[in-house]
This record gives sequence, C-alpha cells and structure tokens, in this order.
Amino acid sequence: MSTVEPFRPTPGAAKTAALAEARRLAGQVLVDGRLQCPPSGRALPVENPADETVIAEAARCDARDVAWAVEAAQRAYPAWSRRPARERGDLLRRAADRLAQEAEPLARLMALETGNALATQCRPEVASAIELLHFYAGLWSELKGRTLPWDPGTFAYVTREPLGVVGAIIPWNAPLLLMMAKLGPALAAGNTVVLKSAEQAPLTVLRAAEILQEVLPPGVANAISGYGEEAGKPLAEHPLVRKITFTGSCAVGKQILHYAADKLCPVTLELGGKSPNIVMDDADLEQVVSGVIVGMRFTRQGQSCSAGTRIYLHEKVYEEVVSRTVAELGKLRIGDPLDEQTQMGAIISREQFDRVTAYVEMARATPGARILCGGRRAAGLEKGYFYTPTLIEGVPHTSPVCTDEIFGPVALLYRFRDFDEALHLANKTDFGLAGALWTRDLSRALSFAEKIQAGFVQVNQYAGPRAGLSYGGYKMSGLGREYSLESMLEHFTLTKTVIVNYGS
Ligand code: NAI
Ligand code: MG
Repeated sequence: MSTVEPFRPTPGAAKTAALAEARRLAGQVLVDGRLQCPPSGRALPVENPADETVIAEAARCDARDVAWAVEAAQRAYPAWSRRPARERGDLLRRAADRLAQEAEPLARLMALETGNALATQCRPEVASAIELLHFYAGLWSELKGRTLPWDPGTFAYVTREPLGVVGAIIPWNAPLLLMMAKLGPALAAGNTVVLKSAEQAPLTVLRAAEILQEVLPPGVANAISGYGEEAGKPLAEHPLVRKITFTGSCAVGKQILHYAADKLCPVTLELGGKSPNIVMDDADLEQVVSGVIVGMRFTRQGQSCSAGTRIYLHEKVYEEVVSRTVAELGKLRIGDPLDEQTQMGAIISREQFDRVTAYVEMARATPGARILCGGRRAAGLEKGYFYTPTLIEGVPHTSPVCTDEIFGPVALLYRFRDFDEALHLANKTDFGLAGALWTRDLSRALSFAEKIQAGFVQVNQYAGPRAGLSYGGYKMSGLGREYSLESMLEHFTLTKTVIVNYGS
C-alpha cells in the first residue's frame, strides 16, 4: 500500500495564505449568524509574534457591541433550548466535521497570530479542539433527568434545563481548544453563547465561529473580540448573561467572581498553575527526561496552565536528569512557527516576553540561584519574541519566581532527599492545578495521588487535558471542571424538581 504525503505549502506560501485570511476577517465579529462589523466600528491591532508586524486589525468591541451580541444570543435561545437534544448533538457533530475539513488553514492562521509552532502545537491543538466538539456532540443523550419514589399518589421527577445566554471569555494560549471547551458543553446543553476571544488571538476563533455558522442556527454561537476591561467586563456583567465561563489569569478570575456576585450568576474558572513534577530515584530516567520537557510544555513556549514548572529531582538522580535534560533542550529547533521543522515558536507578545525576561533577571540576581540553560533571547532571531528554554536551580520557595505563574519557557529545579519533603514543597503553593510523580513504587504513587493538592494528577506521564477526562484546579487554580460529562451537566444546566400530586 502506498501512502500519500499530504500537500504542505512552503512556510512562505502558508504565511501568505494565512495573512490573506487574517485580512478578510479584519474588523469583524460573528454575531447573529454572520460576519459583520460591530456597531462601534473600532479596531485593535493583531500582531505576528514571530516578526512583530501587525497582520490585521480585529474588532475592538465595547459595552454597546457586547449588548448587541448578547441580545442576538438571547433571541436565538428559546428555539435552540427547546430543540431536541438529539438534533443539537447532530448539528454539533456536523459542525465538528466541517472544522475537520478546514483543519489545516485553521492551524496556519493560529500559527500566524499566536507564534505557536504549526507542527508541534497548532495542528495537534486543532485536532484536540475537534475531538472535544465531537465528544460533546455525542453527549446529548446524557441530558436526562430522574424519577424518585415519593408519596403515594404523586409522581416526582427531576429534569435538566439550560441556563440561557452563556458569556465565555478565553485567553490566547490555546484559543481553539479553549473555545470548544466552552462552546461544546454550553451548546449541547441548549444554551446560546457569546464568546470573547483574547485580544492577542482573535482571528482563529473568529474563523472557527464562521465555520460553525455554516451549520448552526444564527445567534446560537457568537464570537466577539476586544480588550478585557472594554468587552470582557461588560459581557460578564450583562444582566442577560446567566452563566460565565472563564479561562485566564487568577487576578481576572477573581474579578469575574465579583462581577457575577451582583447578579448571582454561576461561574466556572480555569485559572493558572505552578505545578510540581517530582522524580524519585527509582524512576525510568529515559521517560523522565522527555516527561520533564513535555510536562513543561516547552514546545508551547511553556504557555500552559498545567505546565510542570517546579521540578523536584531526587538527589541521587539530580545530576543525571539535569545534564540529559539540558542536552535535549539544546536540540529543540526554535524559529518560524510556520516552518515544518520548527519545534518551538515565539512567545505571544512583547508584554509576555518582557514578563518572562523580568522573572529570569530576578532569578539571576538572586543569591544562590543559577541559570543552567537558556535565560536569554534565542540567538540569531533578533525579531520576534523567541526565548530559549530555561532551567534555573537554587531559587528560594519564597521568591516570586517560584510563587508566581510565569507562563513562559522557564522551569525551576529543586533537589530533595526524601519523598515527604518533596511532597511538602510541592503542596507549598497557592495553586493546585496539576502534578506528577515519576516512580516504579506503586505504594508511593498512590500515596502521592492521595496527598497532592491538585485536580489533575499523573504518575509516570505528564500529558495535557483530553476530551473525557475531567480537568480543573484546587485552591487558587479555579472553580469547576471542564472537558467531561460533569462539566456539561454541572456547569451548563440547572435541575428542576417537579412533584405531581395526581391523587390516590
Ligand atoms: P488575562 O487573564 O488578563 O486575560 C484572559 C482573558 O480575560 C482575555 O480574553 C482578556 O481580554 C480577558 N480579561 C482581562 N481582563 C478582564 C476583565 N477585567 N474582565 C473580563 N475579562 C477580562 O491574561 P493575560 O493578561 O493574557 O495574561 C497574564 C497572565 O495570566 C499570564 O502571564 C499567565 O500567568 C496568566 N494566564 C493564564 C492562563 C491559563 O490558561 N491559566 C491563560 C492566559 C494567561
Ligand atoms: Mg491581562
């Protein structure tokens, strides 16, 4: 059997095509079933982080635009919520199939606006986003109620109903996956949605919304763009928005809860992390080295909430793991996100690049701390926000470098002697999103799983969230769970208890 290589345009041709697409989408939002300019007509620049050029102007929505989009979603709500769940599932499945047909241009547009490498991040992300939408499309039959034996002559039952218009706010680091993590469960359950993309990455989301629109009724899934204060806040505060689902920083997550408090609106928050990755001396070191690199999400420039950024290595394996990891990181190919050979792209923005640089410089100035590799802009790439994968040892646990989420390619290394000490340090954080342990000892593994204060725990691997696995944080890492059946039922429906007294 012969295999046919898929057609892959050169980086130059891929960029030209993605640029043309970006310009076609410029200034618009997807509201009420079509691409159009919002009433305010204002714009914000979208930058290509790999060369610092403006690729297009995106719509910069304000409170008036938000109200206009929310009203469209509200008009679409009665028909969508009353539609049989089976039909909603069928439409979402067809929408996911359409996305799959457009996967490659979506991945290219994403690489252009986010700086994420096409081969290592954008293509896999598009595939995961489609998988997630398919998953929710198939869950329609789980929107069922239950009956309960009550008094004689009564019939008591519980049904589930959607909430109404959902306001969704997402960040830039995985725009398409996070879009589907919000839209999938919300729409399957019968809600309508206004989704605000991140100001740094509005275009892929808008194109995906346009594709969904080929299948979905108008007003069901609306995508707008704009800044947090100007568009995100009025969306969260809008009285017709009856549920807010947010992914992003801890600081904004707390703000969202305040906005929601006044109207007593339920909120799902997927916030940051500073997750531990612990290596015992009995671990398979071959697996560990790649697990440390995968866990750090270095091929996404470390821009992941679940990244294993605090790496605890048993003293007996410390030197070996460090030297092998440094050697592997040296081989990572950093550069043009649209080049098939590139494994690590650019940081999203000047702001994030400066933030990463500031934390590394803080570490450099810390007595006892030592930068083992990286710690600088990538050589030969003077334009664009390219930063080298960075490992630092000796940073105190009280330093902001250790307590804050850096959200860049920067990991901290710690040496430990016994497991309890490592576990204690691992839990010494305000966050609690993910965590991993590498060991061959089953009892140690299960004791770690029991004692680690985190919502997404792994042993001998450090994979990312996938459709079907509940994902979410403990402590300051958030409220609620995503990617699973529970997230649709618990976060996007209300239950109604009904007792019918039919007389005996
Ligand atoms: P951010 O939390 O400010 O932005 C995320 C989303 O919230 C964007 O759509 C933004 O426009 C919106 N937003 C901002 N302020 C808002 C407000 N007052 N009301 C409503 N919406 C608002 O994150 P940013 O500024 O992009 O990144 C800063 C830091 O946040 C990163 O360095 C990282 O530590 C963390 N972060 C965590 C993410 C995660 O997945 N856990 C994703 C992105 C950022
Ligand atoms: Mg911000």
